[in-house]
Amino acid sequence: MRGHPPSRARFALAAVAAAGGCAWDGPMTTVVPGSDFAREILHVYGIITWASVGIALVVFVGLAWVLLRFREKPGGALPVQTRGHTLLELAWTIAPALVLLVIAIPTIQVIFRTQASPAPQALHVTVLGRQWWWEFRYPALGVVTANELHLPAGRPVALTLEGPDVIHSFWVPRLGGKRDVVPGRLNRLTLLPDTPGEYWGQCAEFCGVSHANMGLRVVVEAPDAFERWVAAQRATPAEPAGAAAEGKAIYARSACVGCHTIRGVSAGVLGPDLTTFGSRRMLGAGLLPNTPDALVAWLKDPAAIKPGVKMPALGLRDAEARALATYLLGLK
Ligand code: CUA
Repeated sequence: MRGHPPSRARFALAAVAAAGGCAWDGPMTTVVPGSDFAREILHVYGIITWASVGIALVVFVGLAWVLLRFREKPGGALPVQTRGHTLLELAWTIAPALVLLVIAIPTIQVIFRTQASPAPQALHVTVLGRQWWWEFRYPALGVVTANELHLPAGRPVALTLEGPDVIHSFWVPRLGGKRDVVPGRLNRLTLLPDTPGEYWGQCAEFCGVSHANMGLRVVVEAPDAFERWVAAQRATPAEPAGAAAEGKAIYARSACVGCHTIRGVSAGVLGPDLTTFGSRRMLGAGLLPNTPDALVAWLKDPAAIKPGVKMPALGLRDAEARALATYLLGLK
């Protein structure tokens, strides 16, 4: 059969995409853990994988043996016909029960360990999944941020997950399994991130038109770096000058103030807190790098970048959007 070049090209593309999606150490891998929780899950995953490999081997070797041993031969006699075999029937009832036991014991152990109440020294963070961004509140530190969760390495973290609008699911593959964020219900997730680095996360429960655009970043850093980050988050933003001052004036007279908080400037609660917006790496819940050009494009027409976004186009002229971007990126 002759394959058509376009279909062959499509197949090659799909193969490359699939292989790329399976990268062992990709940013959303589940097999390079960065926390105790992820390591526990990987442990269970390993047990189940090896058990499955063993079962597959037994089944395929048995199948091959039966196919060869009992294949039809010209003039051959009918093999012995068996009806009812107590030993065989006991064996294939007990063997799967043993397999389930081998899988169930470590799985249940891990479920209990990861549902245990958080250690007394745990850092408490409230995670709010919103259409389509994440809010992170550190009640003991007086810090509120969005889409970028900073955690100190080596300290247990107790996340409380809340959904003010619809069901979302908080998932940072390298830090552990996903956990649903359900309106009217408090879900918890405790973990101990142990390896500094930047971890990618993603909403994993369909939550509307921009579900796929609801990403996040977790920055796990050494304790002293985390302390510096907290101090910077709590500091009052410096009074801007030049283009940034012009940007602040545009911000203050635009619809921005109705939805966003910038400490000392506005107190909206519908959109992300922007008090230290310039310190974030990404824009629009992990969609774009937080650079002047990307921010200008976002400010001029957010819906073109993120379909369904609740932030309206503000009708800004180019120079106004530039000044506003300068102001916002200066908030660190
Ligand atoms: Cu939030 Cu999907």
